[in-house]
Formats: sequence, C-alpha cells, structure tokens
Amino acid sequence: MTTIENGSETRELAGKRALVTGGSRGIGAAVVRQLLDAGAQVLTTARSGTATVPEGAAFVEADVRTRTGAEVLAAAVREVLGGVDILVHNAGGARPHASASAIPDEEWQDALDLNYLASVRLDSLLVGGMREQRSGMIVHVSSAAVLTPVGPFLHYVAAKAALETYSRGLALELAPFGIRVNTVTPGRVATPGGEATREQWARLDAAPGQTNADDTVPLGRDGRPDDIAHAVLFLVSERASWLTGSNLVVDGGEFPRG
Ligand SMILES: NC(=O)c1ccc[n+]([C@@H]2O[C@H](COP(=O)([O-])OP(=O)(O)OC[C@H]3O[C@@H](n4cnc5c(N)ncnc54)[C@H](OP(=O)(O)O)[C@@H]3O)[C@@H](O)[C@H]2O)c1
Repeated sequence: MTTIENGSETRELAGKRALVTGGSRGIGAAVVRQLLDAGAQVLTTARSGTATVPEGAAFVEADVRTRTGAEVLAAAVREVLGGVDILVHNAGGARPHASASAIPDEEWQDALDLNYLASVRLDSLLVGGMREQRSGMIVHVSSAAVLTPVGPFLHYVAAKAALETYSRGLALELAPFGIRVNTVTPGRVATPGGEATREQWARLDAAPGQTNADDTVPLGRDGRPDDIAHAVLFLVSERASWLTGSNLVVDGGEFPRG
C-alpha cells in the first residue's frame, strides 16, 4: 500500500528488512514480490542455487530442514540485511502416500523438519535481535489440510498442526517485546508444489478422487499465490498492529471450521 504524506509517496514497508523462506516460486515468490512492491528490502532462500527469484530480492541457497541451513540464513540476515523486521516461514510441503502407515519413517522426520522444526530453529536464531529492537513481525504458513486431517497426508498435516500451536504460543511469549506472530493458512492454491502434490494424490489408489475447485470451493476457483501474499502483507503491516496469535484461513470458504 502506498500513502501520500506531505505531498510525497511513502511505501508502507519502506525501511523494513524481510526474510522469506522458499521464495523461488509459488506463494513464496508472490510474498517476495509484494514485499518488494511495498518498499521492503527482501532476502529469500531455496535449496536450488540456480533458483530464480523476483528481481530486486537478495538470494542465499540454504536448506531450511537443517540446523546448518538455519545458521546459514541467520548469517545472511546479518550480512545482507543487517537484521530483520519481517520473517515469513513459507517453505513447506510433503509427498502423500496411500495411508498413514505407508508413510516411511524418514518422510515423517522430513515433514516435521520442513513444515515445523525449520520455523522453530530459524525463529530461535532470529528473535533475539527482534527482542533487542523491541519489534518484529513473524508469519508462519500452515495449510487448511489441518482442518480435515487424512491418512495419506498425516505427516504433513500433523507437522502443520504443531506449527499452528507453536505459532500461537510464541505469539504470547513475544507480545511483551512488541513482536507479533501470526499464521496464514492457505486452502488449495495453484502453485508448482500444490499441483505436483495433487497429481501424486490422484495417482494413489486409496486416496479420494480429485474434484474441481468449482465444485468444492464456495468462491468457485483455486487460490492464486497473490491471494495468500495479500494476507501475509496485511499481517506484517501496521494495519494489523493489534493482531497477534491469530490464524488467517484463506481458502475461498472451502474448509469447515468451528
Ligand atoms: N499450494 C497449495 O495448495 C498450498 C496449500 C496449503 C498450504 N500450502 C503451503 O504454502 C507454502 C508454499 O507452498 P507452495 O505451494 O508455494 O510451494 P512450492 O510451489 O513447492 O514452492 C516451495 C518453495 O520453497 C522452497 N523450498 C522447498 N523446500 C525447501 C527447503 N528444504 N529449504 C529451502 N527452501 C525450500 C522451494 O525451492 P526449492 O525446491 O529449490 O528448495 C520453493 O521456492 C508451503 O508451506 C505449503 O505447505 C500450500
């Protein structure tokens, strides 16, 4: 959002330093683009050193599943940004299997590392600086699959459910320091990762068949990466200055919730 103050244009996040994990495609790339448009300085990461990221963003290759990857990112934050104001934990995903019992042990661990522990490790390395500056905005990206947990995806769903509980707890712990922590929960979004997962899902014998978004999403279409990025941008903006510990579900109305 751009505002006019004293006759000159001010971009809403001018002067803010942001780290976004998984910014080379899909939802992460949309978040990076919108942060840049809002005037923030952005550093992003992916595992592939040849990844292309939105123009204007800095890039560091790191695997967020490991403690080493988190340390590489924390060092890059210090060197490239000189600190961080906005932290968006977006990298995530998993491969579905025929049933919960068919999920190999190493994929349970991988799902936990990518979808839950990556955030825990990176937060633990970066919130110290936010506490010192007594400000910061953290967003964790979950999944609406948590609302209807099914066996083939249980490693992913259980990890995201843990992430949501963790995010809420961290919000309460950090609120006295002026740090806001929120979750964005996307429904079905058209991204390379989302489409690959749905294709794998459709090939599983035991999995329920795929349906068209027109049939299942009350708003009649799949989400776009920008739909999720808009929610993230709102949560890190001053417009959300009284929001912490919240979970914004962005799913076109698809998933039931109490
Ligand atoms: N799309 C959906 O329908 C949907 C629905 C609900 C929730 N979500 C959640 O939204 C988030 C983004 O999903 P998406 O669909 O945009 O995913 P995507 O298209 O697969 O993009 C994932 C991004 O994360 C990076 N990444 C993956 N593993 C990584 C790792 N270990 N370390 C560092 N970077 C890594 C990828 O780059 P590299 O592969 O090069 O590492 C890529 O930049 C995820 O947390 C996902 O669970 C998505």
